Amino acid sequence: MSATPKRMIPRLLQMALVIVGVYFGFILFFDVLLGQLIPKSLLTMYMVFVVAGVVMVFTFTEQGAQELAGPIKALVEDPSKKMMRNVVFVIVPLLAGYYTYSSMLLSFEAPVELRTIHPAPPNKFKAYGKSYNLTTLENPYRKFEKEDPAKFKELVKEGGDVYIRNCQYCHGDKLDGKGPYASGLNPTPLNFQDVGTIAQLQESFLFWRIATGGPGLPAEAAPWISSMPVWQDFLTEDEIWKVILFLYNYTGRQPRSWAHE
Ligand code: HEC
Repeated sequence: MSATPKRMIPRLLQMALVIVGVYFGFILFFDVLLGQLIPKSLLTMYMVFVVAGVVMVFTFTEQGAQELAGPIKALVEDPSKKMMRNVVFVIVPLLAGYYTYSSMLLSFEAPVELRTIHPAPPNKFKAYGKSYNLTTLENPYRKFEKEDPAKFKELVKEGGDVYIRNCQYCHGDKLDGKGPYASGLNPTPLNFQDVGTIAQLQESFLFWRIATGGPGLPAEAAPWISSMPVWQDFLTEDEIWKVILFLYNYTGRQPRSWAHE
């Protein structure tokens, strides 16, 4: 083998660093610039192309390929690396075995068939280009219910206007889920009069569901596709908080809260 130039960072490590760098680059790019969490399947697909491309570049010349293979070759052939070799040959099969075992465990679970009406919310979600923490998020207007009832009434009325303009088509003008479009939809729009819906929920949960709509639902909400629109594209944050006030006020229910009341 021709003498290979000494490098600050060995080629194999260089390659690994480039791949790891691109991986985190993608995550950052989506998170910071697009304000979205990158879907895992998309990231996997991108990374397959990236790894293939990087390997091609690094093995483009004969010398490059040899340099890359050098450390691996040395590990297998060099007598002075016997100890290291034995360690690697034990650990790699163990890791592969563990990986296969853990993915098998997952596939034993029955596929999720029943749709959960109230899926477990994520702890954090993104809307309006910001990240919200569902465990601490509160309706900024709720306090006026006690502090300034006149103002509260006004806010509820504004929420009612938002509702009539946007929501009654599906959820119904009596909030009973029987809007003019409802019969054509599966799953059907939820009936807010029912004790099984908003009365069970916190306002932060509603905010999440209204802002991110059907597309924001986690995987266990499959297989049906919800027609609930992504309201962050059409309403302001304030309008969503007001329409939430209206939903509880009209149905005479109180949101669940963290405090023990
Ligand atoms: C195109 C029809 C449609 C419109 C318009 C619509 N929704 Fe929905 N909504 C649905 C459907 C269908 C569901 C049930 C499936 C689901 O949970 O995504 C739903 C579910 C919800 C839920 C979840 C309730 C729960 O108990 O989990 C909330 C909250 C909600 N809608 C609020 C609203 C508000 C507020 C508006 C108006 C700003 C609105 N929706 C407009 C179709 C619609």
